[in-house]
Amino acid sequence: MHHTRNSFSSKIGFVLAAAGSAVGLGNIWRFPYLAAKYGGGIFLLVYLILVVSFGFSLMVAEIAIGRKTGLSAVGAFRALDKRFSFLGYLTSIVPMIIFPYYCVIGGWVAKYLAVYLTGQGAQAVEDTFFKGFISQPVEPVLWLCVFVGVTAVIVFFGVQKGIEKASRVMMPVLVVLSVLVSLYSVTRPGALEGIKYYLIPDFSRFSPLTVLAAMGQMFYSMSLAMGIMVTYGSYMKKDSDLEKAVSQIELFDTGMAFIAGLMIIPAVFAHSDGDATALNAGASLMFVTLPKVFADAGALGYAFGAVFFLLVLFAALTSSVSLMETVVSILQDKFHWNRKRTCLLVLIACLIIALPSSLGWGVWSGVVLLGRNFQDFFDFISNSVLMPIVAFITCLFVGYVMGTKTVAEEVRISSKFRRERLFTVMIKFVAPVCIVLILVSSLLDALHIITI
Ligand code: PFF
Repeated sequence: MHHTRNSFSSKIGFVLAAAGSAVGLGNIWRFPYLAAKYGGGIFLLVYLILVVSFGFSLMVAEIAIGRKTGLSAVGAFRALDKRFSFLGYLTSIVPMIIFPYYCVIGGWVAKYLAVYLTGQGAQAVEDTFFKGFISQPVEPVLWLCVFVGVTAVIVFFGVQKGIEKASRVMMPVLVVLSVLVSLYSVTRPGALEGIKYYLIPDFSRFSPLTVLAAMGQMFYSMSLAMGIMVTYGSYMKKDSDLEKAVSQIELFDTGMAFIAGLMIIPAVFAHSDGDATALNAGASLMFVTLPKVFADAGALGYAFGAVFFLLVLFAALTSSVSLMETVVSILQDKFHWNRKRTCLLVLIACLIIALPSSLGWGVWSGVVLLGRNFQDFFDFISNSVLMPIVAFITCLFVGYVMGTKTVAEEVRISSKFRRERLFTVMIKFVAPVCIVLILVSSLLDALHIITI
């Protein structure tokens, strides 16, 4: 069925497409603010352990399922076992929740690019600048429209191939630029405390919430537990080295997140002494911190800022395109609508769902769901509830229904599968047990039944 779809990943390298999807706002915007909030070094440590153990195993499983069946999530799980058709649908809900609010943040990045291009970088340094912007009812929504609009045009005209090819140049430049910014950032006066905070784990800050946040971030950043890697796997050739591809995506994705943390967290200390409110800034952290770093470097810094936000926007677009493509193809497969109609519907639905996320920072900030505004609520439901549930069921499915051996056989068609034992133990035992413990304890915490 997928052959008739307008696939962007069928014609280009798998790693390139998957890395384009994986590296995005999750790495540059989301990872640093979570690391800052959840204790720095301890979060980083937990995150790294999760990526090389669980993240690796789940990514291998998802890609292998896709490659074996040649189908995207809904069809793949159904083809393997009819009883698990529901898993395909459950995974499909995740990108539908993420896509709208992802576009809200994408709109913020577009706004910052415009700020730097029009020479207003100095104003962006003010602490009130960002809050003033996101709390407005109209302007952020307009930027949201711009971002969704561009994404939809790319998906509709099927020019993803061009975009992904361009990202071959843009992504490495983004890495180089980020390394430069982080070098500058870590050498600011006062940054040393931030480097220590980010790199040295403080075990007294550990809690199940750290693991839940790190796990949600891992799924989000590596584009796992949402069916997308199954779809990518369905386009992967039988002779390309699956295990190596996963290692490369993992390294690139985690490397980018690590550098982003180094860019932002030491700068928080340099500019605000690492006081708790600054570290807890959440979604706004990148937008209030980076302008200060750029301003420190003067005129050159502002020029840097413009190029930097352009590249971040690009990384965000490659991810949002893959999110929208996933949603569009699920709907097309299910309802047999044509592409134009599906794209238009997804575009409109996205705007409607994204609206509360955007307004929740201003006029609708009074609406609180589970202690969160709309956007943080959507973020929590997808990353901390749905994705762990999907990952848990996937582990059970692979471990006890499909069999880890079947996956291993698929992987071994093209790879040595050196980490097979790790894969088996993670999928069958460690991951499911950990997910249940963490999910239950943090849900009880969110509902104020226990405090962790
Ligand atoms: N992994 C992307 C990021 O880190 O920004 C987000 C994402 C993109 C998630 C595409 C899911 C997806 F299908």
